[in-house]
Amino acid sequence: MAELFSEIKIKEFKIKNRVVLPPMVNFGWSDDKGFVSEKHVQHYDRISRNEAGIIIVEATCISRDGRVADSQLGIWSDEHVEGLKKITSACHKHGAVVLIQIHHSGLVVKEIISEFAYGPSAIEGNPRTRELTIEQMEKIKQNFIDAAIRAKNAMFDGIELHGAHGFLLNQFTNEKINKRTDAYGGTFSGRMRYPTEIITGIKNAVEEPFILGYRLGVNHSSIEEGIDAAKYLEKNGIDILHVSHGGNKDEINAKPAGFDYNNVVYNGTIVKKNVNVPVITVNEIQTPKRASWLIENNLSDFVSIGRDLLVDNKWVIKAGTGEEINYCAHCKTGCKRHAAPENCPYYEYEYDE
Ligand SMILES: Cc1cc2nc3c(=O)[nH]c(=O)nc-3n(C[C@H](O)[C@H](O)[C@H](O)COP(=O)(O)O)c2cc1C
Repeated sequence: MAELFSEIKIKEFKIKNRVVLPPMVNFGWSDDKGFVSEKHVQHYDRISRNEAGIIIVEATCISRDGRVADSQLGIWSDEHVEGLKKITSACHKHGAVVLIQIHHSGLVVKEIISEFAYGPSAIEGNPRTRELTIEQMEKIKQNFIDAAIRAKNAMFDGIELHGAHGFLLNQFTNEKINKRTDAYGGTFSGRMRYPTEIITGIKNAVEEPFILGYRLGVNHSSIEEGIDAAKYLEKNGIDILHVSHGGNKDEINAKPAGFDYNNVVYNGTIVKKNVNVPVITVNEIQTPKRASWLIENNLSDFVSIGRDLLVDNKWVIKAGTGEEINYCAHCKTGCKRHAAPENCPYYEYEYDE
């Protein structure tokens, strides 16, 4: 039986336990140029030093005009590689496997970033939004591939494509948003085509060993379509699936009464039953007891611990020793770290050695 502290291998990469730091943006720590700062390096150093098995570095943008904020980390230029290398070297020093989430916002790009917001199709009643031409899609596809090559050059063990939370790739797969009538819309395989072409492009361009992860937003019209998407991604070469939502975690509510976790976790456990690649479940898992239960019952291969690992960087160590963990307060107005890490009421814990 696998446990929270069981080792596992993905390709050549040995992972020391089943705890993942999910990608979480640190707005304000970079600037308009998207370079890594000393704060980023210290942050990822601290979490890997405290034994997280996999670190997934925050959503990092593949093009300047696809950013979700003007201080988002960037990977659109070779100049970003040197700073990113400092993060991988810090994480590797402590024995973590480290991926980076690569991202484009698509239709939700804000006006301060770009005059128009491009996606699979324009949103009715929103004149700022535009349908991407095939030529523009080819350019963004190449941006994703170049970003993956840069990630490899920066010594990342792999990447995670951001296909969740309503961003560009998730917009393509979602039939409520993707209204295209060409080969990239309509049917299920039409809507999956663009992410799949990006996956193939990356597989052809980046040398092994390299982990190709996908953060899947299960918000297709049903949990069944989410399962189909997971299988499709597996068939097309994805090595690990991180099951999240498409922007609204309660959109797909299939969980049976008595399942003591939220819909997002439930969807992850269902995906796990339908694929052979490792699956990461996420969202309000919070405690070592809840995390262990998912692993021990073979409902998940990994658990992402997001806000609680930020509040208490020693979550993994304390899960082993039984020491008391400082938990996230779940601020009523939403997580204050979204605007700036320093806004978190427990920010000081991050620097508690
Ligand atoms: C401050 C903050 C930043 C986040 N940034 C990202 C991100 O960059 N990419 C992403 O896919 N999800 C992001 N998320 C979502 C988390 O990865 C995770 O799915 C979410 O926090 C739920 O897990 P938790 O309940 O363990 O915190 C972010 C969440 C928070 C609170």
